[in-house]
Amino acid sequence: MTTFGRFDDAAREYVITRPDTPLPWINYLGSEDYFGIISNTGGGYSFFRDARLRRLTRYRYNNAPFDVGGRYLYLRDSASGELWSPSWQPVRAELVDYRCRHGLGYTVIGGRRAGIDAETLYFVPLGETLEIWRTRITNRRAEVADLSLFSAVEFCLWDAWDDATNFQRNLSIGEVEVDDGVIYHKTEYRERRNHFAYFACSAELAGFDTQRDAFLGAYRGWERPLVAESGRSGDSIAHGWAPCGSHHVELSLRPGETREVIFVLGYWENPTAEKFDPPGSQTINKARVRDVIDRFRNAGEVDAAFQRLRDQWESLLDSLRVATPSEHVDRMVNIWNAYQCMVTFNLSRSASSFESGIGRGMGFRDSNQDLLGFVHMVPDRARARILDIAATQLPSGGVYHQYQPLTKTGNDAIGSGFNDDPLWLIVAVAAYVKETGDRGILDELVPYDNEPAESPLYEHLQRSMRYTRDRLGPHGLPLIGRADWNDCLNLNCFSETPGEPFQTTENRQGGVAESVFIAGLFTLAAGELATLAELHGHRDDAATFLDARRTMDAAVRAHGWDGAWFRRAYDYYGNPVGSVGNQEGKIFIEPQGMCVLAGIGLDDGKAETALSSVEAHLATPHGIVLQQPAYTRYHVELGEISTYPPGYKENAGVFCHTNPWITIAETLVGHGDRALDYYLRINPSAREAISDQHRCEPYVYAQMIAGRDAPAHGEAKNSWLTGSAAWNFVAATQWILGIRPEHDGLRIDPCLPVGWEGFTATRRFRGASYHLTVRKSGGVQGRLTSLAVDGQRIDGNLVPLAPEGATVSVEAEIDGPT
Ligand code: BGC
Ligand code: NOJ
Repeated sequence: MTTFGRFDDAAREYVITRPDTPLPWINYLGSEDYFGIISNTGGGYSFFRDARLRRLTRYRYNNAPFDVGGRYLYLRDSASGELWSPSWQPVRAELVDYRCRHGLGYTVIGGRRAGIDAETLYFVPLGETLEIWRTRITNRRAEVADLSLFSAVEFCLWDAWDDATNFQRNLSIGEVEVDDGVIYHKTEYRERRNHFAYFACSAELAGFDTQRDAFLGAYRGWERPLVAESGRSGDSIAHGWAPCGSHHVELSLRPGETREVIFVLGYWENPTAEKFDPPGSQTINKARVRDVIDRFRNAGEVDAAFQRLRDQWESLLDSLRVATPSEHVDRMVNIWNAYQCMVTFNLSRSASSFESGIGRGMGFRDSNQDLLGFVHMVPDRARARILDIAATQLPSGGVYHQYQPLTKTGNDAIGSGFNDDPLWLIVAVAAYVKETGDRGILDELVPYDNEPAESPLYEHLQRSMRYTRDRLGPHGLPLIGRADWNDCLNLNCFSETPGEPFQTTENRQGGVAESVFIAGLFTLAAGELATLAELHGHRDDAATFLDARRTMDAAVRAHGWDGAWFRRAYDYYGNPVGSVGNQEGKIFIEPQGMCVLAGIGLDDGKAETALSSVEAHLATPHGIVLQQPAYTRYHVELGEISTYPPGYKENAGVFCHTNPWITIAETLVGHGDRALDYYLRINPSAREAISDQHRCEPYVYAQMIAGRDAPAHGEAKNSWLTGSAAWNFVAATQWILGIRPEHDGLRIDPCLPVGWEGFTATRRFRGASYHLTVRKSGGVQGRLTSLAVDGQRIDGNLVPLAPEGATVSVEAEIDGPT
């Protein structure tokens, strides 16, 4: 609990109790096709599938004040003329009892002013391409209140990039229709778009507006629109300029009376042949959409849809529930981290307070990793996602760095040739098959580059391997290409031109830059693929992959080891990066994490040594920084990493995505205390108490926390869309709690801190439900000493697969070091 808010775990909500949070604290609406981001004061925007290409409403990033553009409501007291917003923004008049409850897929914002309480529930019903704002207004005065309620959204002309830049066209193309109180935004519907947006209201209207500048008045902003101030709508029809949607509802409320008004903002597509009514006209055919609109203008329908959303989350979260001695572990694993994994799975890195929705589609490596944290909740969607991703792979085994969710085709817009990319597909497929047992996916025919020629998914995975093996450098380590996981380690770029993008500028040819990180990832992936090959009946392949794995492991030990830690890379000229001999950037976090995860150095002490070095050189109270010493000047041979001021982002920030690799590595060497300690340093709930310093939402991971070289050490940035979500979920659940899906059963392999005396969990796995109790004697860190399944003692720590529908009781004990 802080001055900004508190967790309500029973309701699975974060309750914000003052509107002026350090930054907008946002939530997401929608989980299928229609999405929105919504801040604690009603800011944000909506889109259909693709935040760039099908944007419904406008939003102004990097604005002062923050967070302009949203789902706005205004209340005006007819007697006094007083005007306010029940979600505080945009009017920002003070509210009594302001509250915002961010829940799973919904947000409720409310507050009271002048004896009028208003509370709005925002959500996207399952299976629909629309959002609901259900407002309840209560008169707590002793006398009748005469009020005007205005809604307001500003429409985006679909392609958000074009919308924000191409004004010579945009200001002339906006078109709307208003019919039966419904505002239809139909820019470009006359030509190649078959889709339109609509904004409807359940109440009878006193007026409406669709021309933004008529609603606002010249030289006015959203904080004081002329129409809302005067209480009179203009019934304006937009022709060009900036179309908006505003309804005006007059309410006369008796003392104690509550009225409910429902607004529906939605997206609709008509078949080409049925676009117009009458055919040949330019009027939208509303035959199909009208039913949907009418349905959701009905309160009972809205209640039922909201209940379905709540039930869905109940069931998704049922796949894993834990009760541990740490409320931060429980809260994150049971609620917020699981939820954030859904959001990253859906949106990759496209739309947040920090990702503008126009910059990036679905990242290849990002989406494969995001799947790791969500596959247990939605195996079917994970399967479809894997096939979509694999279909963008090129015949060479290389991949596009991203694809657009709308078209599902890959593109090079944010660069190509990141040589780690293809390997992540293997990691994702292995996780999916372990979770589901669905080896049939390996036989699925999947195209390359979305062209007709296809081959089984298994062949795609082989090509991923081959891609790395065909690109080895002089030390037998993988060539880095444009960069690896660390987008900013651009060892071949040598950029001297201001503003040139490091990820798309042509690389200098002829160098030998190699990545120890990719070597670690390859080693991990080769092991996974060998097992898949074996299970799939390809014995020879399995042997080949294991052989490749051994060779790579040996190359890392021979050329990737620096004496006290793993090196990071070799540069264009073959000089080590991340070595004691470097002046800056002597030690990096990524290879310590990835090499140990791959098992390198677990048998000869290198892993332990590397992790001690991490603790000595990289760990801070706010998490583990990416490298040290930070780069203090631009190194042309290293690229973007050295462009960030020390302590930010890849230049020695706490890049949260990488921390759980170290957490996992610590469990692999049996250090339960350190594993939990690292996990908690960046755990959002554990950082709630320092919200003033952390500043981002306390319920989700941020990509970065400023490192110790930064003046604002401990300040987070880039919340929500980050690989930190999936990897922290994996670290906490599969490695600290040790509940790990494997091909032939559920591994129970906790690595707990000394202070814990155990925990309980229930895990849905391949149709059965496992109820786990782990008991640990105080004072030890060790591994499992006994395991009983349904009362029967079994050897080892693998719980065999139970039949579908079964409920299995699992009792595990840890009573001393093993
Ligand atoms: C950011 C990275 C990001 C990359 C690619 C860089 O500017 O610092 O975190 O991965 O751009 O978009
Ligand atoms: C963010 C990118 O989305 C991710 O793919 C990358 O691994 C990290 N930045 C580190 O550069």
